[in-house]
Amino acid sequence: MAFPQTRLRRLRRTPALRRMIRETRLDAADLVYPLFVRPGEGQTRPISSMPGVFQHSVDRLVELCREVAQEGIPAVLLFGLPESKDAIGSSSWSEHGIVQQALRAIKAAVPDLVLIVDVCFCEYTDHGHCGVLTRRSVADSIPPDDVLTVDNDATLDNLALQAVSLAKAGADIIAPSDMMDGRIGRIRQALDLEDCGDIPILSYAAKFSSAFYGPFREAADSAPAFGDRRTYQMDPANGREALREVALDVDEGADLLMVKPALPYLDVIREVRNHFDLPLVAYQVSGEYAMLQAAGAKGWIDYERTLMESLTAIRRAGADLIITYGARDAARLIREGGLD
Ligand code: PBG
Repeated sequence: MAFPQTRLRRLRRTPALRRMIRETRLDAADLVYPLFVRPGEGQTRPISSMPGVFQHSVDRLVELCREVAQEGIPAVLLFGLPESKDAIGSSSWSEHGIVQQALRAIKAAVPDLVLIVDVCFCEYTDHGHCGVLTRRSVADSIPPDDVLTVDNDATLDNLALQAVSLAKAGADIIAPSDMMDGRIGRIRQALDLEDCGDIPILSYAAKFSSAFYGPFREAADSAPAFGDRRTYQMDPANGREALREVALDVDEGADLLMVKPALPYLDVIREVRNHFDLPLVAYQVSGEYAMLQAAGAKGWIDYERTLMESLTAIRRAGADLIITYGARDAARLIREGGLD
């Protein structure tokens, strides 16, 4: 007698059966909400390429953080738009810097919310690059735009200053996104020396040089004035190299790891998950969010369903936590019973 035909559809028959055998679940507790803080009072400014996302002054941000915490989202990721910029990004390590002010205010008002800070310089330098510039020792035939580059080791010193300043202002997790070599070790050492040994580091370990960051550069006013970030961020073509980046950061003392962007790099998330046991974070970046929003607004796709499907896919690939501009939408959809 022939074997009976295998019928996978038996377990797909009803919503209750589908829920029961679901392999990957999404919870508000898996999400991190990015926030942009700007100077002033009573300020809420829209970001045209990211509907639903705003730059907030500190007072408005505190109110928003109360809501975010009530919605069951455990953490926010802070980016600052400083009052002034210079060549080295020195306002990023000022005791009265914009993110430092936000940290103190949010900590006082919403003590249980985990405050993650992005540590980088592109929002703070007048040239928009992620560190201190230096001349490359190259032949004169290279076009002028190509001659300046980011000085790795000079930038490490400043990253240490920024990280310590943010930790002292109340950051719970330090998240360097600059992609300098050796930054995790340098920041770990600085935090330990400055009595901040309890503060973990979330490394943007596999951060690719991605066109999907486009809308963010409007949101954070951080577009490079010349050139691009390809001499420090990773080439999108390289998966094995991502594992080398991650291995170095683990050796240097990273406590959590990140892959960024998320959806175009699901293979990298899976590889990192298979090779390392540290908590793994994926960043669904501005361009990923903007695509869903824009196509949703045109009625070409369903924003809510594609958001939830994307987040589920990122979790299925192996991410424990997801940083997403859709965190509040997703938390609401989960609260309302998902999209079954
Ligand atoms: C800072 C930084 C960027 C993003 C996070 N941190 C921009 C960049 O590297 O160009 C992008 C986040 C997003 O697109 O949502 N270096």
